[in-house]
Parts: sequence; structure tokens; C-alpha cells
Amino acid sequence: MKNRLSRIINPKTGHTVMLAVDHGYFQGPTSGLERPGEVITPLLPWADAVMLTRGVLRNTIDATISNPVVLRVSGGTSILKDDLSNEDITTSMRDAVRLNAAAVALSIFVGAPNEKQTLVNLARLVDEGEEYGMPVLAVTAVGRDMVRDARYLGLASRIAAELGASMVKTYYCENFGKVVEGCPVPIVIAGGKKIPEPEALKLAYNAIQEGAVGVDMGRNIFQSEDPIAMIQAVRSIVQEGYTPDEALELFNSLKGKKK
Ligand code: R5P
Repeated sequence: MKNRLSRIINPKTGHTVMLAVDHGYFQGPTSGLERPGEVITPLLPWADAVMLTRGVLRNTIDATISNPVVLRVSGGTSILKDDLSNEDITTSMRDAVRLNAAAVALSIFVGAPNEKQTLVNLARLVDEGEEYGMPVLAVTAVGRDMVRDARYLGLASRIAAELGASMVKTYYCENFGKVVEGCPVPIVIAGGKKIPEPEALKLAYNAIQEGAVGVDMGRNIFQSEDPIAMIQAVRSIVQEGYTPDEALELFNSLKGKKK
């Protein structure tokens, strides 16, 4: 388990840049990810880990990649349904091991109609993971009517850790330090909806300053006007201590260059 985690969170820096490209599991061909292999592969040199489903992994990613894989193993619903919380475990632990995953990821929906089901899913997945030394990343999914504040995200993150998650993925918010303080396992932040590059870089910077071990960022990378420049800029903040201004300068210097 520790070895797998150390492949995701660099033990030298204590930080990680995870590339989140699992959106299709309920959103279908998400904007920017219509051809997943073509989008993901050129970004991998700057990703400490890649988070995706087994379908995209098997069919579009070269089996020889060295990036650790965080395998999305929850699902069972789609954006056509009002209640996205009706998730179950969709991939067996055996298949995750066979695919050489470094961790498995599942969403919990605290406060949503299927709160209990998703929390029990997490606990079961942790039990199965313990048998194989497989860490579980819990994603605190936020329903449409939930407020993304430190109280709610702190509650959801802490519950995930209490149920045995090895890592938590949540959203950045005001007083994010409080969320980190109450969660005894490493936290990474999602990027959320696409925002202008300077804002996304500031978001990554603030999260690290306030105690996140890294980012698990998707749309703000693959929907950027230059995804390859953007992942390098995000990486410069997370792994090299750049300020948002320095990272933006890097982004602008790389942007548009022939890859
Ligand atoms: C959503 O449930 C997925 O797990 C995404 O991986 C997550 O939202 C992170 O991606 P983004 O940075 O686009 O928010």
C-alpha cells in the first residue's frame, strides 16, 4: 500500500500532479476529451498519476506507460439522471490489480439521497483494497444543492478518511486549511469547471499553500487553450514551488509552441 501511494505522491516533494480524465464515466464524450487517447498521451510526461476508467485505459492508452494509474471504479449513473448519487462499485478489485492500478477511486455523495449507499461502497472498497494493498481515493462529489464550503467539504473529507480512504479528493474553498486540518489523510483538489488559466494557477497555488498535497485536475488542463503548456505550468506550482505569476509566465512562454 505504501509503495503504491509513493508512486502517486512523490516522496521527495510530498506532492502530486494527478491528471483527471475520468469524466466520461457519467458525462460521456466530455468537451475536450472526445478522443481520450489523443488528448491524454501527450500530457503524461508531466503527470505524476493519471485517473481514468478501465475502458479508456484498455482501449486508448499504451500499456507501456510508466505513470501510475488511479482507476475510477465507481459509477452506474449518467448526466441524464437528476440524482447522480446513485452510484455503485463498477470494477472489481481483481481487475484493478490485473490492470496494475496504483490506487482505485470512488465517489461519495454526503448529504445526497444515496449518501449511505455511497459511504458503504467506500467502506467495502477499502476492505477489498486492504486484501491487496490497494489504496482507495475517495472523491467528495458535491450535489447541485450543496454549498462547497469548508464545513461541508470538511465533513465529507473527514468521513471519507474515517471510513478508511487513503487519500481524499475534494474542492478548494474559503478556509480550505480547516478542511485539511480535520482530515488525517492527504488531500488533492479537483480543478472544477474551466476557469481562465491565471485563476486556475492561483487555485492550485492556494491549495498547496493551505495544505493540499496536490491537484487532481482535469478540465482546467484538457480544456485549456494549450493543455500541454497548462499541465507544465500547474506542475511548476505543485512540484517546483513556482508562484502563480511565475507559472503564468511559463504558460505564456510555452503556449502555442510546436510540440
Ligand atoms: C468527477 O467526478 C471526476 O472525478 C473528475 O475527475 C473531477 O471532477 C476532477 O476533474 P476537474 O478538475 O475537471 O474537476
